[in-house]
Amino acid sequence: EIAQEAEHKGWHLYIVGGAVRDLLLTQNNEKVLLQDIDLVVDGFHRSADVGAGVELASSIQKKYSNCRLSVHGEFQTAALLWHKDPEFGSLWLDIATSRTEFYPYPAANPEVEASSIRQDLYRRDFTINALAVRLTPPREGELLDFFGGILDLKAKEVRVLHANSFIEDPTRIYRAVRFAVRLNFEIEPQTEAYIRYAIESGIYEKLRLKNHVAPALTTRLKAELKYILEANYWKPALQLLSDLDALKCLHYQVTLDEEIWWQIRCASRWLKYLDPDNNIGHWLIRLEILISQINFKERKQLALNLQLPKESIERIKIVNILHSELQKNLINCQKVSEKYKQLYRHKLPDLILVAVNSSKKIRRIIWQYLTQWSKVETPLNGNDLKRMGYKPGPKYKVVLDKLLSLTLDGEIQSKEEAEMIVE
Ligand code: CTP
Repeated sequence: EIAQEAEHKGWHLYIVGGAVRDLLLTQNNEKVLLQDIDLVVDGFHRSADVGAGVELASSIQKKYSNCRLSVHGEFQTAALLWHKDPEFGSLWLDIATSRTEFYPYPAANPEVEASSIRQDLYRRDFTINALAVRLTPPREGELLDFFGGILDLKAKEVRVLHANSFIEDPTRIYRAVRFAVRLNFEIEPQTEAYIRYAIESGIYEKLRLKNHVAPALTTRLKAELKYILEANYWKPALQLLSDLDALKCLHYQVTLDEEIWWQIRCASRWLKYLDPDNNIGHWLIRLEILISQINFKERKQLALNLQLPKESIERIKIVNILHSELQKNLINCQKVSEKYKQLYRHKLPDLILVAVNSSKKIRRIIWQYLTQWSKVETPLNGNDLKRMGYKPGPKYKVVLDKLLSLTLDGEIQSKEEAEMIVE
């Protein structure tokens, strides 16, 4: 229907990018569920204020009331979001405009058309993402492959389109790694050389500098990092980023030495067990450990530049203090109840960050707290005390806390024993 609408207006419409790549990679009978589709429309428009993509998207939205329209990127790109369908999830449709000139051209002129979509595809990152399928006549369904994308799909190679690509957009280094690991492709040798060259040339400084210098860049870098660190292939991806020296893009002090690797893996195991529904955002904790190598001031600045969530920035601020406080205090605690008192006020992610960076002894205490002691309940509650004839008041808390301590220390085991002690 979108193609018909475009055709009706005398425009050309293409499906481009990841959707084409993923469709071509699927085996014969395999079903693919596309949730993020990029379209490019090539057509002139009377007004220079709105691109053809925006106009096309608006017409579609008028037909389908169940989708939401948003416009971004200086009026050139429109996105349509279809709400969550219980069976298929949600669908994002991005419609970009390939033509930047706003004067008419003969719609039937194939040369003008070819050069416009070719230019659009040439601006993209990798050959495997620079494929398009024409959706409007003539020759609808035709696959456009100007840069050898099909050959690279067959050879399983991630190949960049031009030498300056990584200098212009360092987030593409992370994208190269993401596609290589996710699709089980190799980064083509020349492309790898361009990546290494970009990193050696200090491109990461551009990312590290204050937010006002490159806000869009850091936002995109965060998006790529999140993508990588929350994917099920995060381990090989992180390893490849490290092999390429690309973690430097975050900060020149970030490396993946044995210690940091161990900490990230240990935290991930703990998180999997303690937060199986991933409410905390495991990717964030991995990132926080990764950047924990940077000195405090610069780490905080980086977290702000990357616009990490508030709770993450808070954690970065307090974790060092919490670490030294717990090291000092836990060592002197004998009883379980004393250890409990040191730990119960702190949040799970804070404790995990401290644990992975602590001695085995401290780590064990924190693990016991998280898996056992934090689940212990007081044998009596306020209602029990009331039933026993005690008047409600601040004393309740004192009594209940004492009962919890005695339970934790194994000195009372049943409700009856607790009642006897209260009496
Ligand atoms: N793109 C690019 N450079 C970037 C980001 C995106 O050239 N830094 C281009 C690529 O051609 C990509 C398209 O924009 O195919 C859409 O980007 P995105 O949706 O992020 O990537 P997909 O290829 O669709 O990948 P995924 O399947 O992971 O969403």
